[in-house]
Amino acid sequence: MDGVTVIILAAGEGKRMRSRRPKALHHLCGRPLIGYALRTARVLADRIVLVVGPNAADVRAAAGDDITVVEQRERLGTGHAALQAREACGEGTILVLPGDTPLLSSETLERLVERHGATGAAVTVLTAVVDRAHGYGRILRQGGRVKRIVEERDATDDEKRITEINTSVYCFDARRLWKALAEVRPDNDQGEYYLTDVIGVLGRAGARIEALTVSDPVEALGINDRKQLAAVASIQRRRILDGLMESGVTILDPASTYVEDTVTVGPDTTLYPNVVLEGATTIGGECVIASGCQISASRLGDRVHVKPYCVLTEATVEDEAQLGPFCHLRPLAHIGAGARIGNFVEVKKSRIGRGTKANHLAYIGDATVGDGVNIGAGTITCNYDGAAKHQTRIGAGAFVGTNSTLVAPLVIGEGAYVGGGSTITKDVPAGALAVGRAHQVVKEGWAARRAKRRREGED
Ligand code: UD1
Ligand code: CA
Repeated sequence: MDGVTVIILAAGEGKRMRSRRPKALHHLCGRPLIGYALRTARVLADRIVLVVGPNAADVRAAAGDDITVVEQRERLGTGHAALQAREACGEGTILVLPGDTPLLSSETLERLVERHGATGAAVTVLTAVVDRAHGYGRILRQGGRVKRIVEERDATDDEKRITEINTSVYCFDARRLWKALAEVRPDNDQGEYYLTDVIGVLGRAGARIEALTVSDPVEALGINDRKQLAAVASIQRRRILDGLMESGVTILDPASTYVEDTVTVGPDTTLYPNVVLEGATTIGGECVIASGCQISASRLGDRVHVKPYCVLTEATVEDEAQLGPFCHLRPLAHIGAGARIGNFVEVKKSRIGRGTKANHLAYIGDATVGDGVNIGAGTITCNYDGAAKHQTRIGAGAFVGTNSTLVAPLVIGEGAYVGGGSTITKDVPAGALAVGRAHQVVKEGWAARRAKRRREGED
């Protein structure tokens, strides 16, 4: 027994996507299409051979090191693509998967391989009975047994009425596959070598052909254009949300909640309507993510409260912090436990200490802010001098008054105070008060004197 080799066909140009990007790299709920095929294949494959097109360095990169990648230099059809994998294949069972059918489950593939092994067939085809068969290859049976597959564009009107379709997933006996493939000719509407024709070749040779029909035809949905991409994404999105709800996440309005396949959310967290969670985002338990928040590639601890309309990108937020409404955490923002980042506050590449508060209208960039600091409304770290970025360090327990301008590089010591409205350009020692603004001048009785001057001027 040589185990199962999975060949994944992903060299097609994806013409119908009308894209510069190879179809295999189009994203479905945050993962490239090819990622789905690989994930499903890994469950049961002893070895995986991925067939890619020319100039597909980025598809190779997305595949990972445990995969054998072969190139199909000319796109001469699915049969020709499979042939490119021959040298890299074992001798036992070959499972062929298309790279554009992301909803296929590994359970279905396991059943297919099992059926194939149990019957000793030359090929076992995975079929689906669908409502709309348009665009798919149709399964032609005779006396109940599969005889051949005809593509939509080569089918007669009668054949087009058949609702059993080819999923493009097949289990082959390796020796029979290569032998039959050598006999396939490109005598079809597209002038291509069709892998589907192997079934007819085997049928004519009297070989045993088996078929397994998927119980959920949704698994067979292939993606050839952007409308199909969106349709499949909405199914996958619903599956992701169902999975989260099953694991204890409350989703108030699944119809308006977008969570990518790459995201994890802890139990008893509540997602409000219009929340988008994407990329490698991890959210802890008992959090509240309110309406309109978009969180990308970020890590949130437990019991974090994100109030409406916050945007987080590559940020880390520790337990029990409170954000927003309307805050913006940019890459490398690190918010300590219990801290509060409030209305219209932007934080970039900065560490904010435990329990520190920046509640209103502030910009904190390239800064290290200690624990228990108060950042007054309108405080700005002036981190950029037009040429380089500079650091601001604010010690624990410091109090920065409202509308302060902190010109970096700058150190404000522990427990220091900055008077409101200051422009601070020099370091402030621990425990000191710094005030950097013009002295206030008060002229008693000035208004009356001015009025008198005016009256006299008019006379
Ligand atoms: C194919 C099947 C069709 C089936 C449908 C299921 C053939 C001829 N037709 O049609 O019977 O119902 O899938 O979704 O096989 N590819 C290559 N090299 C090529 C051409 C294609 O690697 O030269 C790859 C593509 O990247 C894709 C897969 O093979 O992942 C299928 O090709 P595609 O052009 O999408 O075939 P369909 O028209 O969908
Ligand atoms: Ca396809």
